[in-house]
Amino acid sequence: MGSNATADKSADKSADKSADKDKSEKSQGDNTETHEKVDIHSLHGKAKAPALQPFTFERSSKLFARALERIPGGVNSPVRACKSVGREPIFMAHADGPHMFDEDKNRYLDYVGSWGAMILGHCHPRVMEAIETAVRNSTSFGAPSRAEVEMAELICEIVPSLEMVRMVNSGTEACMSAIRLARAFTKRSLIVKFDGCYHGHADSFLVKAGSGLATLGISSSPGAPEELTKLTLSLPYNDVDALREAFAKKSDEIAAIIVEPIVGNAGLITPSDEFIKCMVGLCKDSGALLIYDEVMTGFRVAFGGAQELHKVKPDLSCFGKVIGGGLPVGAYGGRKDVMEHIAPQGSVYQAGTLSGNPLAMAAGLAQLRFLKANKPYARLGEITELLANGLKEIAAKEDIAVPLQVTHVPGMVSFFFTDKPVTDFESALTCDTELFGKVWRGLLERGIYWPPSQFESAFISTVHSKADVHETLVAFEASLRAAIAKDK
Ligand SMILES: Cc1ncc(COP(=O)(O)O)c(C=O)c1O
Repeated sequence: MGSNATADKSADKSADKSADKDKSEKSQGDNTETHEKVDIHSLHGKAKAPALQPFTFERSSKLFARALERIPGGVNSPVRACKSVGREPIFMAHADGPHMFDEDKNRYLDYVGSWGAMILGHCHPRVMEAIETAVRNSTSFGAPSRAEVEMAELICEIVPSLEMVRMVNSGTEACMSAIRLARAFTKRSLIVKFDGCYHGHADSFLVKAGSGLATLGISSSPGAPEELTKLTLSLPYNDVDALREAFAKKSDEIAAIIVEPIVGNAGLITPSDEFIKCMVGLCKDSGALLIYDEVMTGFRVAFGGAQELHKVKPDLSCFGKVIGGGLPVGAYGGRKDVMEHIAPQGSVYQAGTLSGNPLAMAAGLAQLRFLKANKPYARLGEITELLANGLKEIAAKEDIAVPLQVTHVPGMVSFFFTDKPVTDFESALTCDTELFGKVWRGLLERGIYWPPSQFESAFISTVHSKADVHETLVAFEASLRAAIAKDK
């Protein structure tokens, strides 16, 4: 036992269409090697954006009324309801590149990106081709297939801390399975997590959780038995004293620390170096496992995820979103001596009817291979920084002067209306959520679909261009000016 944790998008989107066709034909059936290098910013544009309509939401409203009759709250995941930003949800009809189009034919520049999954933008040709090819062979086998082996090999190659990996169907499943494994491996029961972090909706994680729970202002959920949630210690993020104290008192009971290595679910919050070192050290000394929940950050903030940026080798890691290319996938993996405890090799039970689904594997593999061949991370970082700096500059203008904190890492950004640096959930909660709601509604009416919650990160794709950032900043300035004018 013991822890070893140590280009702008082309103005003329159609220019390369024929070249794309050639490339896509070449890649049909190519399921073993990386794709060739191409101009990744010229691959979209099949659907030309329609001229902007005056925004009306009639069809969305009608669908929402129908949805409310049959779906709790009218949505299949709470944050989508847009409750905390004071409006009804928008029903999307189709999407392309960085844009989404709703039922009323309004066009939006999308900063949700299916909550991080669509790192290459919507309808990426490589991903779509891979799905189209795979679907001809059946939508599910319920038996092993080649793509699962290729996926496992590729993920382990990209993330060096992974020696073995198990595919599941969601980030929730990945995190839930990882803590079961950690508990079985260490023969201990306590799990340490951090306030405002979200690791999916399994009972053990619904303690001071971020994401939808933070958005709705609830910290836990009825139905999660107290007997179980008592086994979860939730500590303030970035607080090394609290962490040391918890380990001083309970080190031989703690099975694992599970952490968002860069928080996305309380808005974006970055960790201090000291905090990372402290987690690694405490796990190593106590024998607890360090679990990096990279469901949001994996293959996004760097190809090897946050652990590549932090130069940390966690014992276990959880993934989702990007590895599915927009289809429902999760994965957890790590040290071989730990992963070997999973059934059928070991006795820790975890299973799934659709795990390793061939369509999901095809989409995920295509997305990961494209990222591997084109390494868009430096540019993604530049575009994100351009946006983050622009937001700060606007808020600081003399005639606006609204206190604003902007946090960002490549591909993820948040803004908080507060004068306090946001380093943990408590400081995130100091922000003016009412002003956020007003600005969000202003952005929406100007064609920007920002995550409909203060406590979520926005996601930037590799096909967001400088022109898109400019459009966003113009909309942000107009929305902020309008919001504060109404306040006066
Ligand atoms: C860090 C993190 N972990 C776990 C999850 C749960 O993933 P899923 O929604 O796929 O169940 C999420 C979802 O947003 C997440 O951001």
